[in-house]
Amino acid sequence: MERLDKVLAATGQWSRKQAKELIKAGRVKVAGAAPRGPEDKVAPGTSVTVDGRPIVTEKYLYLMLHKPAGVVSSTQDPRDRTVLDLLPRDLRGRDLFPVGRLDKDTEGLLLLTNDGPLAHELLAPGRHVEKVYYAQVDGELTEEDRAAFAGGLTLGDGTGCRPAGLEILPPADRCLVTIQEGKYHQVRRMLASRGKPVRYLKRLSMGPLSLDPALPAGAWRPLSLEERANLGR
Ligand code: URA
Repeated sequence: MERLDKVLAATGQWSRKQAKELIKAGRVKVAGAAPRGPEDKVAPGTSVTVDGRPIVTEKYLYLMLHKPAGVVSSTQDPRDRTVLDLLPRDLRGRDLFPVGRLDKDTEGLLLLTNDGPLAHELLAPGRHVEKVYYAQVDGELTEEDRAAFAGGLTLGDGTGCRPAGLEILPPADRCLVTIQEGKYHQVRRMLASRGKPVRYLKRLSMGPLSLDPALPAGAWRPLSLEERANLGR
């Protein structure tokens, strides 16, 4: 038996606070009847509805996180706060993990899920899923830099990169970088190899999924049905 607010929060669609508000507003029914309050105990398999729609206690969760700088994209770390520490307690223990990594200092779009096959599809090197980053650099980007990205850069240690997009924005120390790979510190190393070290880096999109501009750094939300459909889920 679980508390009703906890059952609602475990769907990933509402925080505990929002779940309590839904219950108070009379929008939740348990086995067709109005619950007394958020602390009501719900047996597994009991029908719970919100606005008449059954809640889906799905096996897989899909969350969009706007990763802030200063947290690491691993599931546990002895020193640093992790992206999982940004989620409410109810979503811990659901085996969520980030699909791909962003450096500690990089901000932006991170998909968190417990759907291993989806992560595999998005990260498989052969799939060439496009990731778009916004970067600010020291120095001014030039047409030669754009051509070098398009031709496939060789990094300082000899690592070869596939052709990548470099769109120079005004002012010319800002750009959009599009890559199809996920090598260690790739965007930082690509720009550094052109003598333009990165000052700020943010991921804007991964495949069909774009960072919601209304989502502040540090916040998360479940993917919409449309976003999930775009990912084939
Ligand atoms: N490239 C980087 O250099 N850092 C990231 O976090 C992601 C891509």
